[in-house]
Amino acid sequence: MAAISHIALTILASLLLASAAADEERKVYIVYMGDQTSSNCSTLDQHLGLLKEILVGCTPGESLVYSYTKSFNGFAAKLTISEAEKIAEMKGIVSVFASRMLKTRTTRSWDFLQFPQNVYRNIPLERDVIIGMLDTGIWPESESFSDEGFGPPPSKWRGVCVNFKCNNKVIGARYYNSVNDTTQEASPRDFEGHGTHTSSAAAGRGVPGASLYGLAGGTARGAVPSARIAVYKVCWSFGCADQDILAAFDDAIADGVDIISVSLGHFFPIDYFGDTIAIGAFHAMKNGVLTSASAGNNGPGHGTVSNIAPWMLVTAASSTDRRIIDRVRCAKPYCSRGWITVVEIETSELYVLVLIYRDCSQLDNEVVAGKIVLCNFISDVPFLAGAKGVVMMDDGTNLDTSYTWPAPAAVVSNSDGKKLAQYINKSKNAVANIHKSEAVYNPKAPVVATFSSRGPNIITPDILKPDISAPGVEILAAWSPLASVSGFTDDTRSVNYNIISGTSMACPHVTGAAAYVKSFHPNWSPAAIMSALITTAKPMNPSLNKDAELAYGAGQLNPVKAIDPGLIYDATARDYVQMLCDAGYNKSMIRIITGDERCCSASVGRSVRDLNYPSMAFHVKANEKFVGTFSRTVTNVGDNGCSKYAARIKADHRLNVVIYPKTLLFGRLFEKKEFTVTVSGGPLPVNSTASASITWSDGKHSVRSAMVVYTDFTD
Ligand SMILES: *[C@@H]1O[C@H](CO)[C@@H](O)[C@H](O)[C@H]1NC(C)=O
Ligand SMILES: *[C@@H]1O[C@H](CO)[C@@H](O)[C@H](O)[C@H]1NC(C)=O
Ligand SMILES: *[C@@H]1O[C@H](CO)[C@@H](O)[C@H](O)[C@H]1NC(C)=O
Ligand SMILES: *[C@@H]1O[C@H](CO)[C@@H](O)[C@H](O)[C@H]1NC(C)=O
Ligand SMILES: *[C@@H]1O[C@H](CO)[C@@H](O)[C@H](O)[C@H]1NC(C)=O
Repeated sequence: MAAISHIALTILASLLLASAAADEERKVYIVYMGDQTSSNCSTLDQHLGLLKEILVGCTPGESLVYSYTKSFNGFAAKLTISEAEKIAEMKGIVSVFASRMLKTRTTRSWDFLQFPQNVYRNIPLERDVIIGMLDTGIWPESESFSDEGFGPPPSKWRGVCVNFKCNNKVIGARYYNSVNDTTQEASPRDFEGHGTHTSSAAAGRGVPGASLYGLAGGTARGAVPSARIAVYKVCWSFGCADQDILAAFDDAIADGVDIISVSLGHFFPIDYFGDTIAIGAFHAMKNGVLTSASAGNNGPGHGTVSNIAPWMLVTAASSTDRRIIDRVRCAKPYCSRGWITVVEIETSELYVLVLIYRDCSQLDNEVVAGKIVLCNFISDVPFLAGAKGVVMMDDGTNLDTSYTWPAPAAVVSNSDGKKLAQYINKSKNAVANIHKSEAVYNPKAPVVATFSSRGPNIITPDILKPDISAPGVEILAAWSPLASVSGFTDDTRSVNYNIISGTSMACPHVTGAAAYVKSFHPNWSPAAIMSALITTAKPMNPSLNKDAELAYGAGQLNPVKAIDPGLIYDATARDYVQMLCDAGYNKSMIRIITGDERCCSASVGRSVRDLNYPSMAFHVKANEKFVGTFSRTVTNVGDNGCSKYAARIKADHRLNVVIYPKTLLFGRLFEKKEFTVTVSGGPLPVNSTASASITWSDGKHSVRSAMVVYTDFTD
């Protein structure tokens, strides 16, 4: 099957998922049992014993797919629905859910973030930072992963390389293929390009002269060229299975990675303990490992962000100041210049050809061969029918991102397309040509891409997701030479660097920046690193992003500022557990997850808004007045001596934001101070977002918390 676009692929996959299996057929279920429990027998025996009790006509050994024993407790097994139901009722089980298939969701981007190649670095510590990439694998021969000049892996490293030759840059590589994809070799090698792309965007070495057929040329690089990469291949040609993702988290945490990057996700937000990424990230966080994830490519509708746990950092995709466009030319006055938003990667331009207008849902080769076809919607049919070139009309939602097609192609607005259609009707021999793509300056950047998934957070409405934005539009990074350039299986062009778009590309920018922060502050908690990145993000323009914080979170990633944030909003596993209690989660369930008998303290008067989170979200009822508070604690990581921070508030005129106290005095490093923010106002109609920000400043550091108050949306 040929791809319509990277975004469309996700949609197709989720439709396939919806088909349910027959009743007594065995399917893979995940059985999540929380923290490690101490018992007399080994955890594996515990799992086998549990299976033995409920299996009918199948041995535990035949049923068990994975036993998760290293970093948390749980297993994956082939069960019938009734067997799964029996397990769900047993003692010590947090959740049982059927495995789902998840989907995977670059030179100029770092300069645009004012993060130059010669940025101040802490090289000795950067060399010790290990980034775990859960993705489609890696192409280790890429220049981006050369280990020239690298010493051996840091001594803390406990990972391995399975069916794979590692080097001192790519120091670990495992693969998880429980669904037996036989179209790819049994190894961590990348046949799709996605994992190679994300790995190099996060931690690739600088490779000068990288480009896609001369497009977007420059030095391709990650944020932390000296850091190490550990590969966990969980995605195969059909997607990424839940049980494989959880197995990779279990290993990565035990292997000793510092940061986990997951550019993949479910189509819809899922409750935390039925979501393998949220479960894995929770145990990663408990072990001091930050998980960085993509928001999803299901925008621009509200509530589409699907990685939403507060213990992980979630990134939206925005544009940079460079766009890749094509131009279409035809006779004046109908069209002197057509804006093309599709990357067309022929090395030479397509010269004047006959232009025809057709219904592109079905096309014959005789009609389109040797011609440029104008379609009134995005379609891959003309490519399959053998058109020489294609111009597609779109209502605008696909105009802000370029994609690669297997033949010269362009997407124009509906109004430009109509002009072309008129020209075809009036002229006997309409002709057009499609030029080679070019890079142009994009003065509006950064703007969140249409495809980027939006908040609010459907599961915990008062936690803002996405957290932050990073470049995810037309990113050049390393590619697997065995993968298709355009995503079309019959496109045989092979490249070492490719331009693709998605929150998948934004996520590794934040992963790399988190590694950069970690190289200066190796002992900071995951929450501290998140806070540093979120509070130093550059505010984005709400007039260009109608959903404001629900689209871009705190704003655009600013790695250089993040290494010296001044104050941080820290949090421990206990704080997140308290948040779950405040959100009304079942306490006996939370007790199993955390393995901690004390669990929650009394929740009287507390709310989710009291989690010490670096941003503030408040879901209010439409057409009613509202008042809500946020309690916060900041830790001084700026100056070791006296410092005085004063609060500055900016708020939408419909909001009244009060902070107490208004100044904070610190006498030493790591001192903590509490404050409270109260927001009131209203009534606000449905479909409202109202923004504010609270910035603590000592004259040197600006510690900004984005705030958003919103009502229900009816889209
Ligand atoms: C563990 O072993 C001890 C001694 O053999 C026994 O008394 C106890 O009941 C066992 N506990 C569990 C949870 O099986
Ligand atoms: C995959 O292959 C292994 C070994 O051949 C087999 O045990 C297992 O049942 C297969 N899994 C699936 C989902 O087909
Ligand atoms: C062009 O002509 C076709 C066939 O006569 C007609 O269906 C179509 O509406 C015309 N399009 C425009 C833009 O004039
Ligand atoms: C909480 O979960 C436990 C174990 O799953 C269950 O027995 C109990 O009924 C649940 N309590 C509530 C209030 O839902
Ligand atoms: C809210 O937005 C939706 C989608 O844009 C629209 O259909 C609806 O009419 C709006 N409701 C109000 C009250 O403005």
